[in-house]
Amino acid sequence: MKNNNIRHFINTQDWSQPELRKMLRLADRLKQGGWNTSLQGKSIALLFLNPSMRTRTSFELGMQQLGGVAIVLQPGKDAWGIEFNPGTVMDGDAEEHIIEVAGVLSRYCDMISLRCFPGFEDWNYDRTDPVIKALAEHSSVPVVNMETIVHPCQELALMQTLYERLGEVQNKKFVVTWTWHPRPLNTAVANSAALISTKFGMDVTLLCPEPAYILDQQFIEAASDNAKASGGSFQVSHDIESAYSGADGVYAKSWGALPYYGKPEQEWELRKNYRHFIVDEQKMALTNNAVFSHCLPLRRNIKATDAVMDAPYCSAIDEAENRSHSQKAMLLTLMELNK
Ligand code: CP
Repeated sequence: MKNNNIRHFINTQDWSQPELRKMLRLADRLKQGGWNTSLQGKSIALLFLNPSMRTRTSFELGMQQLGGVAIVLQPGKDAWGIEFNPGTVMDGDAEEHIIEVAGVLSRYCDMISLRCFPGFEDWNYDRTDPVIKALAEHSSVPVVNMETIVHPCQELALMQTLYERLGEVQNKKFVVTWTWHPRPLNTAVANSAALISTKFGMDVTLLCPEPAYILDQQFIEAASDNAKASGGSFQVSHDIESAYSGADGVYAKSWGALPYYGKPEQEWELRKNYRHFIVDEQKMALTNNAVFSHCLPLRRNIKATDAVMDAPYCSAIDEAENRSHSQKAMLLTLMELNK
């Protein structure tokens, strides 16, 4: 039976700052050794339509550590391919519809999570996050986003790590910088970094090479609104030196230019000019001894240099570890709120 009152974890914009802060405090207690097996007998289905190392490992192990069970399904590989659009004549590759998938998994499991990157064909379609919304619409249990056009689980880990490294984050200068990569990638982590850092009151600069790389307007508006509400600030810059100057935190990610979405050859004509956006020691020297991080995976000496990745100020491994603690806190919260 569908229940419209379910709290899902699809987008942190659906959660207040105090609610997220409470999750992070629980994550800290779990990290300090607080053993919790209160998900004994509970289960989660992990649907991966794209590859993963950190997300899969941290969710599978995390659920086991909480006393529960995680079932990994890879639709189109070891599970039937899924159609997500309503009313489709299913004469393509998909063998079943999300209506049945969500209905069946809701009977077996206590939560369902999904990773489904956007299709890189039509941004006007993908920007509405239709796939995870279709899952949530037809699920009668909480749904967790393991990365679509946002990556809310990465957001929790990022914030846990920033609190560890910076202490209070209010009005600390945080730079979300585009960095070089040979092909256009998902904007999800950049969208998410902008959302969560502004929600927690940081002074955020989104640094990207030119206007074509500015994130979708819905995320720019949400980040600006978050900043107004939290007493932080949000600005877009195309100037490397002023953006890095005095920064307390630098977060790197590469993403595709949305006006060229689905046209990688045309996008390359822009992208090829911006190799110098790599994060290196010279840029980090402009900062206020900033912490540097990245969600990983990361191509060394493409997105960031060896020297930056191996520096004591690099917290990428801490952030990856914190995926585990903060996701466990989120799963416990979801189960508590949806009792
Ligand atoms: N950061 C992250 O989500 O890593 P994976 O793609 O390996 O899961």
